[in-house]
Amino acid sequence: MIMDGNGRWAKERGLLRVQGHNAGMEALRGVVEHTHQLGIRYLTVYAFSTENWKRPEEEVSGIFKLLVRYMASELERLHQNNVRINILGDWSAIPEDSRRAVEAALKKTKDNTGLVFNIAINYGGRAEILRAAKILARLSEKGLADLSSFTETDFSRLLYTEDMPDPDLIIRTGGDLRLSNFLTWQSAYSELVVTDCYWPDFTDEEYDQAIDQYLHRDRRFGGIKS
Ligand code: IPE
Ligand code: IPE
Ligand code: MG
Repeated sequence: MIMDGNGRWAKERGLLRVQGHNAGMEALRGVVEHTHQLGIRYLTVYAFSTENWKRPEEEVSGIFKLLVRYMASELERLHQNNVRINILGDWSAIPEDSRRAVEAALKKTKDNTGLVFNIAINYGGRAEILRAAKILARLSEKGLADLSSFTETDFSRLLYTEDMPDPDLIIRTGGDLRLSNFLTWQSAYSELVVTDCYWPDFTDEEYDQAIDQYLHRDRRFGGIKS
């Protein structure tokens, strides 16, 4: 989920951008719930990109405060629903209280076996690939990786998503037809659905419609229609 459009949603209502992010957080609760109902096993939400640091300090700190609030209000329920929280991105660089909230969420849910809920925080697809390349270089230097036989699958394991499957479907709200550095490696064959609705307005119905579009796609993976 590329959760875009919070700012425009707020602007249309004469509200502050951070109020848009707050409404976006409310929408996220519903989306996680509906993901459960749909029986989907992996959900990844793009919460903060490596480029989002360019925004005013006030907005950035507002987003991270919301993350703390989200964890405080949702962690118990997520845990009861057997959800395993996982972070994609360099979360060592985020504010201290958010880091603590993330740490607690990871620790509490680490043995859960239900929905894998990835939250991309300070995440960028290029940064992720570069990080993996550096890990590989170090492994190779130490003689722990054989470059001549190193495969795409091996490389995938060095990404934040490790052994998770690639996303079948990427949904972007807010109408923009781009990926904005989201899952650059993993999205190679993902189906894309872009909806004009802003993230705070992304309802179960919108979600169902996106899934319905996905179900009508012909996924060829470079082959031909069978
Ligand atoms: C997405 O909403 C949330 C984040 C990037 C954190 P935006 O804040 O980008 O909303 P728009 O695109 O300006 O409407
Ligand atoms: C993508 O939205 C990032 C998140 C949803 C966290 P942006 O609003 O940052 O993307 P651009 O700048 O429109 O490409
Ligand atoms: Mg945006």
